[in-house]
Amino acid sequence: MAALGDQSEQQAMASQPKPLTQSPPISNIVIVIAMQTEALPIVNRFQLTEDPHSPFPQGVPWVRYHGTYKHLNISLIWPGKDPTLGVDSVGTISSALVTYAAIQILQPDLIINAGTAGGFKAKGASIGDVFIVSDCAFHDRRIPIPVFDLYGVGLRKAFETPNLVKELNLKVGKLSTGDSLDMTQQDETSIIANDATVKDMEGAAIAYVADLLKVPAIFLKAVTDIIDGDKPTSEEFLQNLAAVTAALDLAIEQVIDFINGKCLSEL
Ligand code: ADE
Repeated sequence: MAALGDQSEQQAMASQPKPLTQSPPISNIVIVIAMQTEALPIVNRFQLTEDPHSPFPQGVPWVRYHGTYKHLNISLIWPGKDPTLGVDSVGTISSALVTYAAIQILQPDLIINAGTAGGFKAKGASIGDVFIVSDCAFHDRRIPIPVFDLYGVGLRKAFETPNLVKELNLKVGKLSTGDSLDMTQQDETSIIANDATVKDMEGAAIAYVADLLKVPAIFLKAVTDIIDGDKPTSEEFLQNLAAVTAALDLAIEQVIDFINGKCLSEL
């Protein structure tokens, strides 16, 4: 049994504010971006350079740009162009593969997936908005068998960043991911069930890999097209891509500046 003196000492200590459990500041960040148009402004802004000795397997189109910015070691990973067709390797397969490889090789403290997305005006999205994602799920993996249905949806929470959201005044919304730019009726039903404000082609796949390997991940999505509007998605997407990419680039700079010098629990 503790002596009386010890007890009062313990009580006095309990009334003190707890020292912050300070993990080391974030130092190593991997940014995953699917399209070259989205990636290059960020490469330029942070003066990143292409790694001349790719850390990835020989022959894959994946590209790593890297550099240091303030106290951060930044790698931007772009899945590159499809070797046969020469277009950006968008979608869940490429993004999951590069995320897996980047985590294995670079051991980041934090993953940032940045990119463009479709937005639902009924849920408060407008062209040029940049959302930080609270939850990611799939809308095109329908497996109507108990429990497999939930596996298909693949709901994952993004790493929570309440201070970042507050400081940068970012809109917060749920993300639904599928491998198509357009949306079938069945997709729409699932997107509504996912309560999504934004729709992309990579986020939930990256969230899956980050969760498997226990790396915190955040998602920044800039709206290029309004899905519940009256313009054809692909036209509106291409029309707004350049301007919206500039908004995304600015948001990423603000996010990186906020992260600099902080540990994960301060985000
Ligand atoms: N990226 C930009 N717009 C998109 C949309 N409508 N669906 C999926 N990915 C997108």
